[in-house]
Amino acid sequence: MKTRDDLTRISRGFWESRAILSAVELGVFEALGRRRLSAGVMANRIEGDPRAVRMLLDSLTGMQVLVKEGSAYQISAAMLPLLTDGPTSALGMLKHHAALWHTWSRLTDIVKGSGPAPSKSSFRRGQAEARAFTLAMRDGARRLAPGVVEEVNLKGRKHLLDLGGGPGVYAASFARKYPDLRVTVVDLPAVALVGEELTAEYPDVKTRVTFFAADLDRDPLPEDADAAFLSHVIHGQSEEQVRSLFKRVAEALSPKGLFVVRDFYTDADRTTPAGASLFALNMLVNTRAGRTYSAKEVIAWLKKAGFKTASYRKSKTAPDAGYVLARLP
Ligand SMILES: C[S@@+](CC[C@H](N)C(=O)[O-])C[C@H]1O[C@@H](n2cnc3c(N)ncnc32)[C@H](O)[C@@H]1O
Repeated sequence: MKTRDDLTRISRGFWESRAILSAVELGVFEALGRRRLSAGVMANRIEGDPRAVRMLLDSLTGMQVLVKEGSAYQISAAMLPLLTDGPTSALGMLKHHAALWHTWSRLTDIVKGSGPAPSKSSFRRGQAEARAFTLAMRDGARRLAPGVVEEVNLKGRKHLLDLGGGPGVYAASFARKYPDLRVTVVDLPAVALVGEELTAEYPDVKTRVTFFAADLDRDPLPEDADAAFLSHVIHGQSEEQVRSLFKRVAEALSPKGLFVVRDFYTDADRTTPAGASLFALNMLVNTRAGRTYSAKEVIAWLKKAGFKTASYRKSKTAPDAGYVLARLP
């Protein structure tokens, strides 16, 4: 950030953010779909105030989310694949962002020490929240899986554990790339239930992708795997939880085991990349003890857990993410 304009643009960036999130919360995009609607009809559909609905739709049009012709609004061609259901939809992730608005609003209090973050992560707050969270994770994974399966080499591996694999998108994508690979997705019972349902989208690999409901913090892991993939899980955990999980993964994998830990990694002083250090704040307001870790810390813990080698590789396809690859032999 270098100029006054940079600073003020970002400090009032919530105007745009709030307009989109309110539209998401009100169901504006679902009401529109591929249709063209006037503000009056929209106000009826979402049970809103006609004047306020028109002002919201006009702002969304100014932001080029919608287009307006005469008095009718529709979703712009560029936004249509993102704001309607389908394989490229971002609606699940936007609903998740709308929920994050509320937790981020508590940042000042949390930094003052006058209020803890929620005691439970959203995937532990009942079936409805687990489902909403898993749908958001599906949106992200659908977009990134093609890059991830190219960047993680599982050639010759027979059984992969996708630990905290949520919607099962990475599991199914790995199974598609490696026809001899079996994948077990390990996740909490409420999430595993949703993941099982969502992987119906991949009928060609259905028999090779299975779900195993377990708590990574305490339950035994399946034992005959020769690879494990842990993606975007450790940032929600305390250092103690991460170190204990690494030990149990080292014990569970077969002697030739490969362990891939994917996450947003910071540099050693925890400040860059900015996306990773901001994600730490996301964990501050949403978890009891999570943060983003540096690749250096993770490598040290993996070696302590029994992996002989561990090294970091930046992702070329996902901003701010990277992999630590650890091998037992
Ligand atoms: C941020 S999501 C990441 C999902 C997916 N791996 C990805 O990269 O998109 C974290 C996942 O870890 C799971 N998870 C977190 N803590 C867990 C635990 N103690 N036991 C099992 N699963 C856990 C959550 O349910 C969720 O599916």
